[in-house]
Amino acid sequence: MQKTLLSGVKPTGEAHIGNYFGAMRQFVDRQDDYRQFIFIANYHALTSVSDGALLQNLTLELAMDYLAIGIDPKKTTLFLQSDVPEVTELAWIFNTITTVPYLSRAHAFKDAEAKNKEVNVGLFDYPILMAADILMYGADIVPVGLDQKQHIEIARDTAQKFNRIFGETFKIPEAMILEEVKTVPGTDGRKMSKSYGNVIGLFASDEEIRKAVMSIPTDSKGVDEPKDPSVCKVFAIHELFPGENTEALRARYLSGGIGYKEVKDLLVEKIIAFVSPMRARREEIARNPEAVLKILREGGEVARAHAQRMMDDVRGKVGLTFK
Ligand code: AMP
Ligand code: TRP
Repeated sequence: MQKTLLSGVKPTGEAHIGNYFGAMRQFVDRQDDYRQFIFIANYHALTSVSDGALLQNLTLELAMDYLAIGIDPKKTTLFLQSDVPEVTELAWIFNTITTVPYLSRAHAFKDAEAKNKEVNVGLFDYPILMAADILMYGADIVPVGLDQKQHIEIARDTAQKFNRIFGETFKIPEAMILEEVKTVPGTDGRKMSKSYGNVIGLFASDEEIRKAVMSIPTDSKGVDEPKDPSVCKVFAIHELFPGENTEALRARYLSGGIGYKEVKDLLVEKIIAFVSPMRARREEIARNPEAVLKILREGGEVARAHAQRMMDDVRGKVGLTFK
């Protein structure tokens, strides 16, 4: 039987090349080989977006992004997380078998606490809702960026704990993290992230791409000096994009004779060449938002039917229903 692949992205800002190379591209590459569920994690987004109109807007934008990169709704069930409200019920049931000290060890929560942010209960419980997303559809593999690794481990632990207490119910999912990508750096050298304002937008204009690339910090080595490609953030982004010249570029770094200005100009050209066809497709898709909403609605119905079957079983096992 075909294995199930599932993943989601939060509609909290413009999709960027970190999202694309870390996660989204794999959804396109694998849709022929897996039964695939891809969704827009709008319940998760509520932990950081408290503006209804903005959330609607970001949601529609992300749906268009998915379609523009090549998600085919005939092959992939593309849907809104909130069109399957059963996931919040499953998350509640998982809450009752999860301890507070266990969730207190999650990185995202610890980071927010360390920064003295006011942590809402939704943010604290974020990994459990994510476990519900993953386990609800019987996912075998979950392609994500390295920053989500711990969340997949929490989903695995939760499945094992539930199965131990109530009997075999959930499949144990595996994370799929691309070794060669791991974490894409942003224009300030930190992880590229919607919340740091350091992104190169996947659908940015030529001018925005140029500006973002030019702002990446480099060391002060002159043109002729040898340079270390393994510590250069510009080189790290070069490596993501296809093109046979990466090896030649590495050699020029090591021998000296290339300046950062030239490296950045080459990168701008490479990014523009790569994103322009997707950008054009996206413009086409954006002309018909109704068609996009229809795809989401239909995907939601398919996903919900799976979820309802799963919840019948779960409700019975935990004793909420009588059979
Ligand atoms: P998010 O935008 O946080 O919903 O992330 C969506 C997907 O993109 C997740 O699988 C993340 O792990 C992945 N991702 C986000 N930022 C990066 C990055 N800088 N490098 C690699 N993957 C990333
Ligand atoms: N937490 C993920 C992120 O920030 C988004 C997400 C929510 C997700 N539920 C998921 C990813 C289930 C994979 C599977 O990127």
